[in-house]
Amino acid sequence: MARHFLGIESSCDDTAAAIVSDDRRILSSVVVDQAALHEAFGGVVPEIAARAHAEKLDVAIESALRQADMALRDIDAISVTSGPGLIGGVISGVMMARGLAVGTGKPLIGLNHLAGHALTPRLTDDIPFPYLILLVSGGHCQFLIVHAPDRFHRLGGTIDDAPGEAFDKSARVLGLPQPGGPAVEAAAQSGDPTRFRFPRPLLNRPGCDLSFSGLKTALVRERDALMADKGGLTEQDRADLCASFQAAITDVLSEKARRAIAVYLAGNPRNPAFAVAGGVAANRSIRAGLETVSSENGVVFSAPPLALCTDNAAMIAWAGIELDRIGSKGAEPLVARPRWPLDDAQPALLGSGKKGAKA
Ligand code: KG4
Ligand code: ZN
Repeated sequence: MARHFLGIESSCDDTAAAIVSDDRRILSSVVVDQAALHEAFGGVVPEIAARAHAEKLDVAIESALRQADMALRDIDAISVTSGPGLIGGVISGVMMARGLAVGTGKPLIGLNHLAGHALTPRLTDDIPFPYLILLVSGGHCQFLIVHAPDRFHRLGGTIDDAPGEAFDKSARVLGLPQPGGPAVEAAAQSGDPTRFRFPRPLLNRPGCDLSFSGLKTALVRERDALMADKGGLTEQDRADLCASFQAAITDVLSEKARRAIAVYLAGNPRNPAFAVAGGVAANRSIRAGLETVSSENGVVFSAPPLALCTDNAAMIAWAGIELDRIGSKGAEPLVARPRWPLDDAQPALLGSGKKGAKA
């Protein structure tokens, strides 16, 4: 008989609940987004996020159960994100999960949000350990070798902004709507990626660390120069700025992926697998860049469907199943943690991303 886990996720600006079975079936995956609540502020407001989670967690859980045609008593265990993320939201989720666990007597597992993202390719594509993954979103950017459900090796990550954050900020300064990534990508389609030569930060340094904050500053400088020159931006200026900006991010991620793949293959030549997760993986230019680097290096590239790339609770339910299988009870003690690197052996990354400290 398959076992079923309830997953709960509230570490950022999505309140999510899902039910997943240990034979890799997603019975339900509910995501209640808070975009409208934060829109007027130009970013996620932690206090508003925490209150909205507290209000919406029971709604999300009830609807995940209903969609799966299950009751709480049919669940075998509860997995909850206990960090890293915006602390108020994480506490909301952990308290809800604790209450459910005490009330039902079901086991409770505390999960690292990043482990949820990193283990998703096993839920969607059943890929074996080890593999290389790039987590790339508004809150994360890191290359990880995934050896086991509880063993990760970080090869590098952003030292400041996450790429999604850079897209969002750039859209804002160009007067484009949020979330910025899709808006910049759409504008870039009719733009000239060679008109502005934006910097490729950290390419001249060895290793797999990345940096994106200087890119936004460079874009603001070009925008201001155009405004001073002509008194405003034409549609073509905007398109060219977006295309040039997207080209810079694509170049940086592709080159760092090339390096990460080389390091990974040197130690794991028998499993040439590279996966990507996170909202920025939706970008066609970036995805094409990563695909090219993979095929040039004989590596199989995979990307989960977008709904499972972005924040969701199915990945948390699944990560709980993976930990349970190896006899792990997850985070102990089960407390909310704002910071929680997956790889303790590596020095902490300097950056945090707009959506809270991530590692
Ligand atoms: O994974 P996600 O839903 O949430 C977290 O940040 O955790 O990722 C959202 C981010 C936003 O910054 C958004 O602008 C970016 O992913 N994004 C994109 C695209 N679609 C979403 N960035 C570039 N191109 C896109 N097509
Ligand atoms: Zn995430």
